[in-house]
Amino acid sequence: MRKPFVGGNWKMNLDAAASRTLADDLARAVATDRLDQACDIAIFPPFVYIRHVHNVLRDRSSSIMLGAQDIWPDPSGAFTGEVSAPMLKDCGVSVVLTGHSERRHVIGESDELINRKTRAALDAGLQVILCIGEKLEERAGGQTDQVNERQLRAGLAGVIPDQLSRLTIAYEPVWAIGTGKNATPADAQDAHTKCRSVLASLFGADAAGRIRIQYGGSVKGSNAAELMTQPDIDGGLIGGASLKAEEFLSIVRAAAAAPSKGR
Ligand code: 13P
Repeated sequence: MRKPFVGGNWKMNLDAAASRTLADDLARAVATDRLDQACDIAIFPPFVYIRHVHNVLRDRSSSIMLGAQDIWPDPSGAFTGEVSAPMLKDCGVSVVLTGHSERRHVIGESDELINRKTRAALDAGLQVILCIGEKLEERAGGQTDQVNERQLRAGLAGVIPDQLSRLTIAYEPVWAIGTGKNATPADAQDAHTKCRSVLASLFGADAAGRIRIQYGGSVKGSNAAELMTQPDIDGGLIGGASLKAEEFLSIVRAAAAAPSKGR
């Protein structure tokens, strides 16, 4: 069975005090309602607040995983401004995002760099959420499946079967991110099925059936249930709605309540 997995990507938001408060509110609610029994949960604060959030989660003995929004592939050296896998692990991080659309399209990261980051994180024993998704003009041009396939094949080149249990894919159509326009459940399900077939061609059907594929892009409490009940949607990667504890928790509850998926 694929346990649902919901991540809160805080992006470049909040300050130290608000990061602590949000982490604390989430940790308390997850423990009280035992939400982690039916859903894996991770939060991704900005680098500078990782330590603050780590301390809150540690003090509450929380099962919420601590995530980083980015990683640099080399372990150390002259890479001004960058942060490596050993540094992240040292700060209590267990999961990282790679290939987020803002890093692809705002910062200009290539498929090749995203692949290096993905492999470095997996080689270091971290979990990875590899984000993929098409832009509006690519969707309009009928390119959705080709873009997703290219980003999956390039992003996962050199990843070995032993590492797949630590891999999650996030399908985040770029036009749905931060716009209030989520993909319809049917469109998202269709994209997820196609992504799973690409994973099957790379790693075999059994392995592909175990890899979780999150949906991301304007998910909120009010649309989470219809997305999370789709047979190939295994949770979500949440931006704006992850900055408010109650809103994020309502998405986690929707994912936890969805019927079991996979074998
Ligand atoms: P929104 O939920 O704000 O659309 O952002 C999605 C996202 O980019 C998560 O990584």
